Amino acid sequence: MNEIFSLFNDKWALLSAGTKGKHNSMTISWGGMGTLWNKPVVTVYVRPNRHTYSFMNENDYFTVSFYPEKYRNALTLMGSKSGRDIDKDAASGLTVKDLGKAVSYEEAEVTLLCKKIYFQDMNKENMLLNSAKNFYGDEAPHRIFIGEVLETI
Ligand SMILES: Cc1cc2nc3c(=O)[nH]c(=O)nc-3n(C[C@H](O)[C@H](O)[C@H](O)COP(=O)(O)O)c2cc1C
Repeated sequence: MNEIFSLFNDKWALLSAGTKGKHNSMTISWGGMGTLWNKPVVTVYVRPNRHTYSFMNENDYFTVSFYPEKYRNALTLMGSKSGRDIDKDAASGLTVKDLGKAVSYEEAEVTLLCKKIYFQDMNKENMLLNSAKNFYGDEAPHRIFIGEVLETI
């Protein structure tokens, strides 16, 4: 049962927003799956300085995709370089998969196609752990995005 909590943290995932012609992806290890407003949902947390942040704000759909262990290097690259600076698709060696509303990658073992239904900025005043407050220093905390899972691919 404990494995459900290691899905994001141990396995990592890619968060992608935008369409085939204009998208960006980054590695995430914070997130969760559950139920909200009677819908199956995925929650992700994106810091404002990520290039992916503007894609998450500008697009109505996003995907969260999970990969076999052999793609760990590709996910490391997606989580350490910015799409502002390089073509991360090319650098990672992953193959873009066009889903119409959004993109994923052919190499994914599962992709959750999500419709954005809620977002909110985390507020430091509401953080009850000092370690969480200290984590941010003077920087803006993560924006929470919740997506309704439309399809599991
Ligand atoms: C394992 C791992 C997990 C990460 N998890 C998150 C996350 O949950 N939220 C986040 O904002 N950034 C996370 N990052 C950092 C982004 O992936 C990283 O800053 C990335 O280079 C941003 O790319 P972009 O500027 O193209 O959006 C993670 C990085 C790694 C390596």
